[in-house]
Amino acid sequence: MKILITSLFFSLLSLSAAGHAASGSVHLDHFEADLTNTASLQRGARTFTNYCLSCHSASYMRYNRMAQDLGLTDKQVLENLMFASDKIGDTMTIAMRAEDAEKWFGTAVPDLSVVSRSRGTDWLYTYLRTFYKDPATAIGTNNLVFDKVGMPHVLWEQQGYLALEHDDDHDPHLSSATEGDLSKSEYDGMVYDLVNFLGYIGEPSKLQRLALGKWVLLYLIILLLVAYPMKKAFWKDIK
Ligand code: HEC
Repeated sequence: MKILITSLFFSLLSLSAAGHAASGSVHLDHFEADLTNTASLQRGARTFTNYCLSCHSASYMRYNRMAQDLGLTDKQVLENLMFASDKIGDTMTIAMRAEDAEKWFGTAVPDLSVVSRSRGTDWLYTYLRTFYKDPATAIGTNNLVFDKVGMPHVLWEQQGYLALEHDDDHDPHLSSATEGDLSKSEYDGMVYDLVNFLGYIGEPSKLQRLALGKWVLLYLIILLLVAYPMKKAFWKDIK
């Protein structure tokens, strides 16, 4: 028994070590999604449609579904969030052709519909905040969690540019090289909303599930209140 427990303990230990190795040596910042925060999702949608939808599609997501889920009217979405299409029932596709993307960026630009599930929100939250200047790459920037990424730092106006510093006594870390329009906490907030939105498009029905969950629990509680006295009454004479 003792041997069994010890071997179980060590196999768990090695599993968690493997998990660490897989995520690389870079620490990922924790992201706590809040799908009930409609204002945050709306701001995220605005950033996404303004700064990402020119290169990336989200082709599983329809504009009218987003309008409904985020408490917006079709008109608001048409006027403020739709630049690539004028049909509210369309999915979020882009005009750029895959061949052109290959030519311009040297790689296909991935669709972002389910990126929050493939990469995880911690990774996204870190990725979008850790672009840094790197003269060694073709585009002049690099990223802490995605080495030699082909994507430029599209939010540079907001964040400014970061630089990677190598001190002898520290791990390499990022520091500000040029100022952006936003303070660090404002920029973190902007990326928070964007990643919250990417989490939402990765699983839109989660919103309905969360809303429905409350009613299901209420139903079960009411059922219990009825069923328990009934059970007591039925079994009262049986000893
Ligand atoms: C100028 C075009 C362009 C814009 C604008 C752009 N990206 Fe990208 N993005 C790329 C390219 C190209 C890649 C692929 C990089 C590679 O594979 O090296 C990429 C990769 C990514 C990835 C990694 C996907 C994966 O799993 O590999 C994420 C996440 C991402 N972009 C998010 C965003 C977000 C969010 C925005 C808006 C703030 C945005 N991108 C704006 C071009 C762009």
